[in-house]
Amino acid sequence: MASSLVNSHASSQYGSNPVKKDEVRLNEMGSEVVEGYTCKPKDYDPNRAIMHYKTLLLLCDDERCGKAGKIDKASNLREIIKEMGLNKGENRIKISRTGCYGACRFRQVCQVTENTQANGNEKNNALWLKNTHRFTDDQWRNIFMLLSEDKILVEEINEDNFIPMKVYK
Ligand code: FES
Repeated sequence: MASSLVNSHASSQYGSNPVKKDEVRLNEMGSEVVEGYTCKPKDYDPNRAIMHYKTLLLLCDDERCGKAGKIDKASNLREIIKEMGLNKGENRIKISRTGCYGACRFRQVCQVTENTQANGNEKNNALWLKNTHRFTDDQWRNIFMLLSEDKILVEEINEDNFIPMKVYK
C-alpha cells in the first residue's frame, strides 16, 4: 500500500489535535466533528458542495517525498495558511496530499493548481515545485502571499524552484 494512503488516513483520524470526549468543535465547513477525529463531520451529506478554493497545492506524501522532510509538511503548511487567514474565503489555499508522481528525483514535489473555473489565475496553474522540503516557513509564506495576490509565481521566485516540463509543440 502506498504510504500516502496510510499517512492521509492517519492524519485525518488522529491528526495533531483530535476532538476529545465531550468537546464540541466545528470543522472548516461548519460541521460538528466526530470524537477522535480532526475534521470528520458527524452529519454526512454526500451531496454537499465542496468548499471553494482559489489555489490547490498537491503535495506528494508518498514514500520518497514523504520521507524527504522530517516533519508532517502538509499539516505544517495548513497551519501557516491558517495564520495568514488564507484557509477560507475568496483566495483560499487548500493543501492535499498525493501519491507518487513518478518524479521522485525532485522530491518533495508539490504541484500548484489554480481554480480557473472560479477566480484562479491560469498563469499559476500546473506549476511544479521541487525540493519543497527545503523551503523555510518564510519561503512558504511568501509563496502563499504571491498566490493570494495573483502575482505570477515564475516571475517572483527563483526558477531553480520549478520542475522543468517537456512540452509538445
Ligand atoms: S514519491 Fe513523490 S514523486 Fe515519487
